[in-house]
Amino acid sequence: MADRRVLTNLRGLCTPDPARAWAVDRIPDAALALEGGRVAWMGRAADLPAHWNDAPKVDGGGAWATPGFVDPHTHLLFGGNRSGEFNRRLAGVSYQQIAAEGGGIRETVRATRAATVEELVTTGEARLQAFRQRGVVHLECKTGYGLELEAESRMTAAYAELKRRGWSLDVTLLPAHDIAPEFHGDAEANLRAVSEDWLPELVRRHPGVARFCDIFVETGVYTQEQGRRMFAAGKALGLIPRVHADELTWTGGAELAAEVGAASADHLMFCSEAGMKAMAAADVTPVLLPATTLFLGMRDWAPARKMIEAGCRVALATDFNPGSCPCVDPLTVLRLGCLQLRMTFEEAFTAMTLHAARSLRRDDLGHLHPGAKAEVLLWDVEELLELVYWVGEPYRPRFLNA
Ligand code: NIG
Ligand code: FE
Repeated sequence: MADRRVLTNLRGLCTPDPARAWAVDRIPDAALALEGGRVAWMGRAADLPAHWNDAPKVDGGGAWATPGFVDPHTHLLFGGNRSGEFNRRLAGVSYQQIAAEGGGIRETVRATRAATVEELVTTGEARLQAFRQRGVVHLECKTGYGLELEAESRMTAAYAELKRRGWSLDVTLLPAHDIAPEFHGDAEANLRAVSEDWLPELVRRHPGVARFCDIFVETGVYTQEQGRRMFAAGKALGLIPRVHADELTWTGGAELAAEVGAASADHLMFCSEAGMKAMAAADVTPVLLPATTLFLGMRDWAPARKMIEAGCRVALATDFNPGSCPCVDPLTVLRLGCLQLRMTFEEAFTAMTLHAARSLRRDDLGHLHPGAKAEVLLWDVEELLELVYWVGEPYRPRFLNA
């Protein structure tokens, strides 16, 4: 069979176990047998089944092998940047105040509306390369900086082109990211345009490109009830809900996610205990974004420990975007997961691999058990915990196929 290979000379292999919620296998002196781009066997090198003896060997160079990171919440494509706004925030003006003045997301909307599909693809590809160098092998990425049909359509076309070029992406339609300037604060009219016109037309123009739909449920943006109606429209088009929920205030976003059977509820800094229980019962993955909390200068870290205790399989993501988190670095998120969300290394690692993939309803990413995609990272450290411990050290993984 073509493409049979055995990865040997590993210090160890560390992978979440997809069959057990928070279990991590840590196998010293490991080997990994690969066939057809998938994991066929993993275990101690000494236990490698005999029929793999004649397969070509790949030297792991004494590294630790892990699955690649999955980033389940990014706003990958946008025009311009918001460093000027950042400077105002450093001077004490709040994120919400800037948004209320017509800046914030709407500043990026102006720049994104001015960008061509080609420009979006070029900047998007450079950002994807930056993610990949840092070990991210699959990303969720959203529209949402068009806020009108044609610009949302150009963003979707750019994602389609990036997928065509081989990038591993899940696309989420987010035309309800804010209230478009044309609607002059009339959220209800904007929501009707999104649900009745834009979403159906985006799906019709770009069949098969998007899997998910999303809405910013937040004080001053869309209400829980408006989210409920938009998800009904999205589901009728075959889109799976995920939701920007309880980010800056409590708005019942987690409860809504549970009610509509969302794949994920994201942010959740102000999630209620009832919301946590509802997510656990409905198997909604909470996607926590601690680098956003950091970059917004807030101290309201999402209650990861309480969610884990409530039975939620928490995931972590960057939230890469120009306003609240211009960060492409999974190690920053891993470190904040441990240091601020009080997750153990194994929990934060699982949250950025297995549970991140789970929030995208993908079972062949985020682990290295048989059947998984052969997306293997090689880390030249003695112990994987060093990735967190040496804070600020810019580790870069090697890739199996590099
Ligand atoms: O996830 N909350 C809404 N969306 C982004 C921020 C977008 C922006 O500021 O440009 C977020 O934080
Ligand atoms: Fe976001």
